[in-house]
Amino acid sequence: MLKYQSTLETNLQKTTPEFHVSFNDQVDNDFNTLFKTLPPNRPYFAVGVPGSFHCQLLPEASLHIAHSSYALHWLSKVLGNEKEVTKAYFAQFKADMDAFLKARAQELVEGGSVLFDIHGVIVITEEKLDSFNLALYLPSIEEVKMVVEMNKCFTIEKICTLSHPSNYDSRPLDIERTCADIRAINENLMQDHFGSENMDQLFHLWEQNLQKNRLLYDKVVRQDVYHFALLKCKGKGKYLAQSHKSICGLETWGH
Ligand SMILES: C[S@@+](CC[C@H](N)C(=O)[O-])C[C@H]1O[C@@H](n2cnc3c(N)ncnc32)[C@H](O)[C@@H]1O
Repeated sequence: MLKYQSTLETNLQKTTPEFHVSFNDQVDNDFNTLFKTLPPNRPYFAVGVPGSFHCQLLPEASLHIAHSSYALHWLSKVLGNEKEVTKAYFAQFKADMDAFLKARAQELVEGGSVLFDIHGVIVITEEKLDSFNLALYLPSIEEVKMVVEMNKCFTIEKICTLSHPSNYDSRPLDIERTCADIRAINENLMQDHFGSENMDQLFHLWEQNLQKNRLLYDKVVRQDVYHFALLKCKGKGKYLAQSHKSICGLETWGH
């Protein structure tokens, strides 16, 4: 029996687990570019999962770790001109975050984890929200905690706030790179509204404005924060068979 156990342990140690990574984004995301730019010798199997992360995207209890990076501040819809802008955006953020957590709780195995980072603010001012015409809400860390606790599917293992990565060094702002990032994130949303034929001109204007206002950008955007959280899926009260040994990840990816 002991001999059998030690052979089993040695065999297990030798077997590298297989990782299955599901990359998620909205259906109009350019998944081809994602697959073309993945490292050729990656030690995992990759698949693309199109659709909103506010809905269930993977089969029940098929996921071990869900990782969402820099995406949960995107709301599921653009709000109208509500009188109480701050309240309306926060209410939508609560509903969307709750839908995200419920969907992940369905997909995760018991004890599985959710790791996310979200663009946040330390204090939310109405002026800051009013200046956004996009479906975005930048929560405080207390608001993130409150929504996770209300959802009841997860325990919070760790939560903290870090400053914007570009604050870590004193390198000057790279305008061209910043504009390329902003275009990659916003182009899909903006071309629906303004028309794809206007995109080059619009982002050219954006770059010129950023050149003129680089000091403002440095003071506002580069002072922003990220909230990081690690959540553990609570017991589901039922036995769910795991069909394979691989560890699945759910990652949002922008082209
Ligand atoms: C700022 S990018 C982050 C990309 C990547 N995770 C990273 O860290 O570089 C945010 C991405 O979230 C995607 N996104 C926004 N709302 C989404 C939703 N409801 N479901 C899936 N993806 C969404 C956007 O299309 C965009 O590609």
